[in-house]
Amino acid sequence: MIEFYASHKLLVWIASISLPIAGCLLYYITFGPHTVSDKGIGPGTLVRRFGIREWISHWLMLLGFLTLAATGFMQIVLGTTLGHLGPFHGMLGVIFFLIALITLLGWVRDALFKQYDWPWLLKLGGYLSHDPKPLAAGRFNAGQKVYYWSILLVLIGLLVSSIIMEQGSHSPAGRKELFWCIHGLLGCVATIMVIGHGFLSLFVNPDTARVLRDGRVSKAYTDKHHSLWRVPR
Ligand code: HEM
Repeated sequence: MIEFYASHKLLVWIASISLPIAGCLLYYITFGPHTVSDKGIGPGTLVRRFGIREWISHWLMLLGFLTLAATGFMQIVLGTTLGHLGPFHGMLGVIFFLIALITLLGWVRDALFKQYDWPWLLKLGGYLSHDPKPLAAGRFNAGQKVYYWSILLVLIGLLVSSIIMEQGSHSPAGRKELFWCIHGLLGCVATIMVIGHGFLSLFVNPDTARVLRDGRVSKAYTDKHHSLWRVPR
């Protein structure tokens, strides 16, 4: 796989972006959105899903990730012709990693698996059903917990691989070395995961998209999809 990536980086990147988008479109055409309620939203019908610090760091992670993915992809397309991109990407990467780590550690208790997560996992959250019955979940459902731990591992892998690859050559041949390829492949995995996360949050569960605006979502949504979560006052 490493060898294939080393000689077909652009192809692997284009596939990692276009195939998940095509998969999301296919899912949407087949199952459509799982809207709970978009009527009658007022001050009394909303609950705070993200505190102000969580809301800011979620935005920072989102913008940081998009910039890293774009500057990483540009290095693949342009090679070394834009010499300043690499150092910019590397410095932003370290800042992004620290912000992501602090944010994720703040959510660690909500991300621990509980007994009630098993039915959710076995039924894949009801995502493959046309009439999904609500499944018990805490602040994060089992799918979000899987996403949490996997993205944490991938981010650690991105940081570690970048530190190792920085010791080697930056020439086009050097960029085909093992840790450059591991870093690039982990970048692809992260991109696929973020596309999936964004698709589920914005399109499949449009009730949650509101969280980006002011950190709040409808109470009807949390009652249905996070029934075991005690909303903080
Ligand atoms: C943990 C945060 C990250 C750090 C510290 C980091 C660091 C780096 C560094 C130091 C380089 C080499 C730049 C150079 O010196 O020329 C690099 C290259 C690259 N990064 Fe990252 N990065 C991070 C996250 C990401 C993410 C999130 C993606 C994509 C979604 C990504 C994709 C890439 C790609 C595609 C390359 C070019 C590899 C090649 O030329 O084969 N990185 N990164």
